[in-house]
Amino acid sequence: MCGIVGYIGSGDAVPVLIEGLQRLEYRGYDSAGIAVAGRSGLKVHKRAGRVDDLVATLPKRHRGGVGIGHTRWATHGEPTDVNAHPHLDASGHVAVAHNGIVENAAELRAKLAAEGIDLVSDTDTEVIAQLVGIRAADMALEDAVREALSMIVGTYGLAVIDDRRPDRLVVARNGSPVVLGVGRGAHHVASDVAALVRHTDQVVHLDDHELAVLHADSYRTFTLDARPTDKQPATTEVTATAFDLAGHDDYMHKEIHEQPTTVARTLSGRLDRRFATAHLGGLDLSARDLLGVRRVKILGCGSAYYAGLAGALLVEGLSRIPADAETASEFRYRNPVIDADTLYVAVSQSGETFDTLAAVQEIKRKGGDVIGVVNAPGSTIAGECGSGVYIHAGPEVSVASTKSFTSTVVAFALLALHLGRVRDLGPGDGTRLIDGLDALPGAIDEVLRAEDAIATVAREVIAPAASAFFIGRVRGYAVALEGAQKLKEVSYIHAEAYPAAELKHGPLALVGPEVPTVVVVPDDHLLDKNLASVEEIRARRGLVIAVTDAPAGALGEGGTTGPGGDGRFAAVLRVPRTEPELAPVLLGVPLQLLAHHAALALGRDIDRPRNLAKSVTVE
Ligand code: F6R
Repeated sequence: MCGIVGYIGSGDAVPVLIEGLQRLEYRGYDSAGIAVAGRSGLKVHKRAGRVDDLVATLPKRHRGGVGIGHTRWATHGEPTDVNAHPHLDASGHVAVAHNGIVENAAELRAKLAAEGIDLVSDTDTEVIAQLVGIRAADMALEDAVREALSMIVGTYGLAVIDDRRPDRLVVARNGSPVVLGVGRGAHHVASDVAALVRHTDQVVHLDDHELAVLHADSYRTFTLDARPTDKQPATTEVTATAFDLAGHDDYMHKEIHEQPTTVARTLSGRLDRRFATAHLGGLDLSARDLLGVRRVKILGCGSAYYAGLAGALLVEGLSRIPADAETASEFRYRNPVIDADTLYVAVSQSGETFDTLAAVQEIKRKGGDVIGVVNAPGSTIAGECGSGVYIHAGPEVSVASTKSFTSTVVAFALLALHLGRVRDLGPGDGTRLIDGLDALPGAIDEVLRAEDAIATVAREVIAPAASAFFIGRVRGYAVALEGAQKLKEVSYIHAEAYPAAELKHGPLALVGPEVPTVVVVPDDHLLDKNLASVEEIRARRGLVIAVTDAPAGALGEGGTTGPGGDGRFAAVLRVPRTEPELAPVLLGVPLQLLAHHAALALGRDIDRPRNLAKSVTVE
């Protein structure tokens, strides 16, 4: 959510900043700006709109050896030119780009106003610029930043320059990521390695309450109270190719198609056939610890929460330990009882989601054990949890999660297998699941090969609708929730998910020929119940699309596989059969394609859905 870039070196900062902003645009895209300092002082250019709008209006003589840039997702103040970052102090010498929220901004604004400083924007960030500016005339920039931050309550990833000191760039972190990139004769800064990997693979992740001073040929890191921390660079595993479109028109499509590979990576080295279990090296819990677990509570937001719901079913089903999932934001605010014998699991693709992080901190504060199921290595939530399971899906650029959802469910299958085998799950079932997990990459590939048929359904049945229902029972319900989420995010078609049996308790009032319903029908003991729901919808002349792993004909569809079939279904989207516990992994994939192709048919900006941003680092 919001992206920061910075550069100091012997070259011109402007092209580096612009390229960095383009890489980070998925984190926020309602306005963007850069500030550079050079021989002719500080130059700032910022605009509401996309990075392309910024580039199109960039003055030719905008150059400088040090600079910062920002791409924004508005929290305080509308997305206007004035509210775009970087923000300046009243003297016009200091420029600041900021991610996070200044919670005491109103109070500090009033204080600044009383001192005669008029703020020009509606943002909380401008407060930081003014506080630094007041001090920077008389002290080193890093000391001015330090003093200003001592007055701030809230979170920040911060980059600051001062045109009177163009030999340095100061950055600081509290709750919002900041990564330094160590180059030759240049240093880079970003809120995400995505913006650095084209320049260097040597990175330094700042910790909370840490500050760094960068020069062209050196850097120093300190705590906020000025003690040196002497951070050494490490080689990042992330490569520049992870951020290429690789021939796809958008990242969502690319990431959907990466799933055979990313699921294989989630499984890699973790299937232990000898003991018919899963080996999870990052889980710092012995078999004895796991024997003591009486409950599993899974926490996450959005799609991570939905993956957690599927995960809870896997854990409870395989280990017979009661398990459930809850949204992290609700959990943290309801003063939850924390049990010593509950295993808490925080789920997050980015590892930076504020609500999930706050839930983790609340659990730890009350003495609970929490592990992470996280995609981004070295992220804040991964660090805060200390132990857990990385999903290894690789960087996810599309705002709509796809490959990370699938890999998270697979990671939960591994965790459930591991927990189950410590308990009552027999080796026969363990081996059955290992075989099923091993076959998933190939099975996902098979689903993807049916893309054309799914695209036709998306164009002909979903895209013309103003609204759609997604229903399912138990395993199918978690998939339905995620399917509805994907559709509304990228196509803007209103979509709601219900447990199938709930339809008749209210939502059925809306069903009719103009509202299609997607029914998720795993080939399990609830298949007939799902077909009964289908009949309730058909009796109201509603169109039904079934997504199933049941064999052809099992839904009474007479072999229909596309639109215009036998009248019972508008379409049946079939995925290969897998072990019943693993069915959600495959049933989710056609729904990703359905959402993608509906959005495409409607001409949506698939990778940058309106009002959204990747990685929600604010409350
Ligand atoms: C949906 C989506 C969001 C995220 C949610 C949590 O496609 O991407 O709902 O799942 O914001 O994000 P992470 O997983 O980064 O904690």
